[in-house]
Amino acid sequence: MPYCRATVDVGQTTFRCPRCGGLLDVDYEWDRLPLPRSLSEWAEVWFRRRELLDFSGVWRFRALFPFAADEYVVTIGEGQTLCLRSDAVASYVGLRPGRLYLQYEGLNPSGSFKDNGMTAAFTHARLTGAKRAACASTGNTSASLALYCAASGLMRGIIFIGSGKISYGKLSQALEHGALTIQIAGDFDDALRRVQEIARHLGIYLVNSINPFRLEGQKTIMYRVLEALDWRPPDWIVVPGGNLGNVSSFGKAFGELRQLGLLSQLPRLAVINASGANTFYELYQRRGLRWNGGHFDQQLIQSYLNELDAAQRRADTLASAIEIQRPVNLPKALRALEICGGVVREVTDQEILDAKAQVGAGGLGCEPASAASVAGLRRLVAEGTIQKGETVVCILTGHVLKDPDATVAYHTDDRALFEQKLGRRGVQHATYANRAVQVPNDLAEIIKAIELHA
Ligand code: F0G
Repeated sequence: MPYCRATVDVGQTTFRCPRCGGLLDVDYEWDRLPLPRSLSEWAEVWFRRRELLDFSGVWRFRALFPFAADEYVVTIGEGQTLCLRSDAVASYVGLRPGRLYLQYEGLNPSGSFKDNGMTAAFTHARLTGAKRAACASTGNTSASLALYCAASGLMRGIIFIGSGKISYGKLSQALEHGALTIQIAGDFDDALRRVQEIARHLGIYLVNSINPFRLEGQKTIMYRVLEALDWRPPDWIVVPGGNLGNVSSFGKAFGELRQLGLLSQLPRLAVINASGANTFYELYQRRGLRWNGGHFDQQLIQSYLNELDAAQRRADTLASAIEIQRPVNLPKALRALEICGGVVREVTDQEILDAKAQVGAGGLGCEPASAASVAGLRRLVAEGTIQKGETVVCILTGHVLKDPDATVAYHTDDRALFEQKLGRRGVQHATYANRAVQVPNDLAEIIKAIELHA
């Protein structure tokens, strides 16, 4: 437990500290474990990729999160993701050519970074003999849970989603893979509270990022970034912030690598909130909340959340994946920023959608929440916090097909559709729209249109 140092058994599944009530953290007795002497030794593991565990982009790094014996591991080959240089997007955000990389987590089996954590949570669930697993979700966790249930046959999946709060790509995955799907009248924050109660009542295994084993799996996103950059850390990692699991996990990964003498220089972390769901930005950047060696100001957090309740303010952004007002991993995220140093910024839905279109035009497709990282980076370069010669990796957390409605509404020339989906969120124009061209069913007209536009 990061604040009070109490310890519990590895089989514990409430994920809360019995002494202080905070979220549990996984710690290892490193000096009793075999570890490579340098990060570059992982290249040898990759030669054994016919072995299922060494093929997985998560489990081939299992020496750095050794909580389960190999025979318990549940893997579907997740983590085959790429860290790609993108000069087109670098130019958009104001970085020099060769300075921006996009870590494309949309390539995972369920189309988002969640699979990195789900494979680890499932492995722990299997250790504990769980037969049912549940989550509250803005869509990607539920898609991932549903997929791992269907693929492994080990558990029945139960998902809680806020009504009307989940994009169709994600909902379709949960339905297709056979999860019991419960839509509650409320949003993600409501659903997350409920699912914790229900998991306690019914003894169901919880796979939200409250689960510390999920965060262990998500550390591997950073190992793969380092691997792609030949084990030289970038200056910055930029990541969207929702429930703050990723940033917590990234900070832990880097802190451990330093502790183990495997990395001396750590990248800084930039967390990007949507301005309609900006609790972390408000608390960290505006009100000065800090980890403070574990003695963070709980009162400050509570009074801000009370203010939101009093004003009846709920999270509101079209980046539905990060439409979250009460991030459960807030303390761990503070710890991550203390370990690595870093900043939090907020971006509007307009900036998010424009950045998303630029990512797409540059050859990788992502969903709105993911593009918050690129939009945030653009701000950070413009304000001079990130220099144009620094090396930056933005995490593209989910695939473009997750939220086709947002993409079509952006590119459409149907003003009513644009207004209904985007205009009411304050998006005024689709700066980089690629509109479909309407032509009569006539050969000459079609040829004329092609010659005009291409
Ligand atoms: N990007 C995407 C595509 C996500 O689905 C999420 C979270 C985030 C970013 C935020 O990550 O919580 O680690 O800060 N989605 C969760 C879900 C909440 O239910 O799928 P975080």
